[in-house]
Amino acid sequence: MAKPKLSFICQNCGAVTARWQGKCDSCGEWNTIVEENTSGGIGGGPQRGRRKGSPSALLPLSGEMEEAPRIVSGIDEFDRATGGGIVRGSALLIGGDPGIGKSTLLMQAAAALSRGGNSVVYVSGEEAVAQVRLRAQRLKAADTSVQLMAETNVEDILATLAETRRPDLVIIDSIQTLWSDMAESAPGTVTQVRTGVQALVRYAKASGAAVILVGHVTKDGQIAGPRVVEHMVDAVLYFEGEGGHHYRILRTVKNRFGPTDEIGVFEMSDIGLREVRNPSELFLGERNEKAPGAAVFAGMEGTRPVLVEIQALVAPSALGTPRRAVVGWDQPRLAMVLAVLEAHCGVRLGQHDVYLNVAGGFRISEPAADLAVAAALVSSLSGAALPSDCVYFGEVSLSGAVRPVAHAAQRLKEAEKLGFRQSVLPSASADLPRSGEIVPHEVETLPDLVGRVASGSLPSIG
Ligand code: TYD
Ligand code: MG
Repeated sequence: MAKPKLSFICQNCGAVTARWQGKCDSCGEWNTIVEENTSGGIGGGPQRGRRKGSPSALLPLSGEMEEAPRIVSGIDEFDRATGGGIVRGSALLIGGDPGIGKSTLLMQAAAALSRGGNSVVYVSGEEAVAQVRLRAQRLKAADTSVQLMAETNVEDILATLAETRRPDLVIIDSIQTLWSDMAESAPGTVTQVRTGVQALVRYAKASGAAVILVGHVTKDGQIAGPRVVEHMVDAVLYFEGEGGHHYRILRTVKNRFGPTDEIGVFEMSDIGLREVRNPSELFLGERNEKAPGAAVFAGMEGTRPVLVEIQALVAPSALGTPRRAVVGWDQPRLAMVLAVLEAHCGVRLGQHDVYLNVAGGFRISEPAADLAVAAALVSSLSGAALPSDCVYFGEVSLSGAVRPVAHAAQRLKEAEKLGFRQSVLPSASADLPRSGEIVPHEVETLPDLVGRVASGSLPSIG
């Protein structure tokens, strides 16, 4: 018998090291390196050993396609995040913290697709068939023709699928429970997860069935995380949510067949996930309009405008090094806005603690939020509330100039729809609508904005 080949593999990122170490050099996580038997090769294919090459077929780029290339669930928020439906023959990974609602989302999607005439197979490696049925009943999905399989061995799953008529969609819940005869390490390790996922991706390409893989994000690195298979699949989506909030966001981070900055917004209820068609209303729901330090940012998430409230608290600090705490935004970006306020606007914050929060637990990645953040900070420092019917957007450069950002018209339209009457925005925004209900206050530089906020020259209308 061949001697087992042992390797040390990081369970978070999949990096291989020569010996055990406490910290992974590649991703910086601690205690994630585990010794694995990789005799089957990391993700070793079915034909190991020497094999003589045999010719494959060369095909033209334009060719016949039998059916609609995408399967559409009819759950708009889900379809938008996948780029307009799941592409046939593709593999899609949905990652997220345990308990965030991945199984719930996919059971609802499976039911919707099945009602639309697609055949769906739901493979559960975590729950018994009875448990999955119980959940389906609660989600009002039990009357559909979704087929269930409680199986964790990849070869058995593929053999079962080969015996039935080819399904349109196969859901694997979850990749961490998969194990293959081809790999010799324990289930949940990088080698097992990669081997299993590779076999399923190959099945998707060969059969034309779409495959959705569920992956738990793991904090302690004891089992392999979804990151170790991100490169193997066609699309990667993360299902996110904040503790204490009921809404969930399905965010696309990779998509070979669509845009990557789309989000789908859901709310978890006692009968499953409910679509949130207008996220701005949700995020602005509990607004206190009279409080200083709050500014509404007109943001964009993919093709969709989303309005969120940015809250700042600036308070004198008792500490030698004042505190800077950020929830929902970039810490370095806040440091930059603070530096520009200090250097170009004469706003002294060196003796103040600064707290910044994006309301509702939403996370912003756009630099366009700079202007709203600056307005919130100055408002909190001066103790004067900003007008409640005003939205802000614009990027601030290190020189203090306010730069135009894309989709100005769309941002304003959304703000108008939600009852806002004025906006502070970069001058020379390209695609501004000529007519509109919203009064634009164009600012060229950050000192310009600070002057207007401090002097209260942004009038409250209505
Ligand atoms: P689940 O889909 O099992 O999470 P995951 O597959 O990502 O681990 O969701 C589990 C949570 O969702 C659980 O805490 C209960 C909650 N939940 C509801 O609030 N309402 C529902 O209708 C369902 C099915 C679950
Ligand atoms: Mg689950």
